[in-house]
Amino acid sequence: MEFFIDTAEVEEIKEAYSWGIIDGVTTNPSLIAKSGRSQEDVIKEIASIVDGPISAEVIATDSEGMIKEGSQLAEIHPNIVIKLPLTIDGIKACKYFSDNEIKTNVTLCFSANQALVAAKAGATYISPFVGRLDDIGQTGMQLIEEIREIYDNYGFSTKILTASIRHTDHMKAAALIGSDVATVPFKVLKALYSHPLTDKGLEQFLKDHASASN
Ligand code: E4P
Repeated sequence: MEFFIDTAEVEEIKEAYSWGIIDGVTTNPSLIAKSGRSQEDVIKEIASIVDGPISAEVIATDSEGMIKEGSQLAEIHPNIVIKLPLTIDGIKACKYFSDNEIKTNVTLCFSANQALVAAKAGATYISPFVGRLDDIGQTGMQLIEEIREIYDNYGFSTKILTASIRHTDHMKAAALIGSDVATVPFKVLKALYSHPLTDKGLEQFLKDHASASN
């Protein structure tokens, strides 16, 4: 399973990458806006830190505009993955990039049929948003199960990139289902390491060691 960090905050990326478990990065226009910097600056800096796929999203909504914008983003660094919305235009642009061997991440996926058309168009990654489905009273992880089954039925090579992860249980469920990738906010990544019994056990070991050495 690949771990991507879901942020445009360079300090978070530097710290998480130093832990040795990060394979790539995803950004979106909201995360870039939150960083207060231009997409180009942020993406260039991320590419200088992380040696792995970095998703950068287009703003255009027509396929021609997406192709133009995506081609410019792809020129920034060979690790850039073009993030495209799951619309007819987005899927047309996905097909263009796939035919031209440029990697894509089709985003804002909320149904199995959307994931199916993205795979047909040769998407490198499909990003189903589990947290946003939970927010409207649906079960986001059920969508991951459905996509896994459909992709396995036909041997589609599109990777399932579980996105909109809000807590550690999403991560565990994604791993149990067999999601190829999960993109995870810094706070949730950090929480993956922790368990109160680890802290308690370590404290006791150190106490026992100190009393034995005195
Ligand atoms: C990543 O590719 C997505 O843009 C991101 O995970 C969305 O997360 P959110 O629903 O918490 O905004």
